[in-house]
Parts: sequence; structure tokens; C-alpha cells
Amino acid sequence: MKVSPLPDPAILEKITELLTSQGWAVIENFVPRVVITQLAQETRQQELRRAGVGKPRTVNNDIRGDHILWLDASNSSKLQQAYLKLTEHLRLALNRDMRLGLFEFEAHLAHYPVGAFYRKHLDSFQQDNHRVLSSVLYLNQDWQTEHGGQLRLYLNSDKHVDVLPHGGTLVLFFSDQFWHEVLPATRDRLSITGWFKSRS
Ligand code: OGA
Ligand code: MN
Repeated sequence: MKVSPLPDPAILEKITELLTSQGWAVIENFVPRVVITQLAQETRQQELRRAGVGKPRTVNNDIRGDHILWLDASNSSKLQQAYLKLTEHLRLALNRDMRLGLFEFEAHLAHYPVGAFYRKHLDSFQQDNHRVLSSVLYLNQDWQTEHGGQLRLYLNSDKHVDVLPHGGTLVLFFSDQFWHEVLPATRDRLSITGWFKSRS
């Protein structure tokens, strides 16, 4: 099974257009269903750990309840590496078309058990972690609205959009602009979450 290493030019164009006009983008079927099925299965077999918050990192269920595993060359599968390769092409395309100066990409698997959430937060502040663009690829099959688990993206003080974590959907948003939260779900919720970063 393969993930095409080259994103479709029409999709790249759509991403650039949406990021330029509104700062966030939701792309359905960014990764095909068969690939999502296998990525989900691999995530279930890997050993994820409770994610921490703050410095030093501590587990706090009132802030976030997900389990994560940072991906690197040593612990990632062929298919996970193929996805990382795809994000590398996306990084280069965004630098070429939007002059974002993205230097690298880091990503972790994430598993939110039933009822887990991540309270409203920003992924980057004061440039301390060099995160420029946040990305989430969802790995959930047959997700229904009643399962919950929406990513709630705050556009301004009185407006938000809710994104359902459908398998294959990719969400992108500027890390220092959009407060967001993950609402609790009645099903396990899986994703690969990553950040395009500027040079540290
Ligand atoms: C995060 C996050 C969003 C999501 O991990 O920082 O906000 O939809 N994830 O999983
Ligand atoms: Mn976040």
C-alpha cells in the first residue's frame, strides 16, 4: 500500500488559497481510506503515553487527556514515513507559494480515549516553540456527528467552526492565530498531529 508522495497540485492550490484568505483549511480525503485504515491499525498497536502540559511537563486530565507518540525515523512504520514524506512536499510547496519559511515538521500520533478532551489553547505563543502552522490528519472511520470529538476552531470572539474528525481529513491553521479545543467523544479518536516550524 502506498501514500502518493506528491500532493495533487489542485489540492495544493486550494490549501494555499484557503490559508491566504482565511488562515485555516479543511481538506477532506487528503489521504485515501485504505491508507487511513492501516494508519489507524498501526496507531492502535504502538505504545502511546499520556501527554503532558506546562514546563516541566505534567499530566493534567483537566487540560488534556490524550496519549501521544512522537514519530521519528526509528519508531515509525513505512506508511507513517510515507505520510511524513508527503508533509515534506507540502512544506516545500508552502514555502514556494506562500513564502512561509517553514524549516521542519514534527508530528505525533494521538489517541483520545472516550471522554478525553483538550481544553481551549493556542499551539504557539511568543514564538517560543517556533510553531508556524498546525496540522491534524484524522484516522477515524465512519465517524458520525453524534460521536462528538469535534475540533472547535475559534475564528474570533463570537465565531467558531467545528470540524468532525473524519478519517482522511486534513486540517491546517496558523499556530499563533487560532485558539482551538478538542471536544470529548463517545468513541476513541485517533490522529497524526504535526507542526511546521520556523528555524529555531
Ligand atoms: C493539539 C490539538 C487538535 C485535534 O494536539 O494541540 O489541538 O483535533 N489537536 O486533535
Ligand atoms: Mn492544539
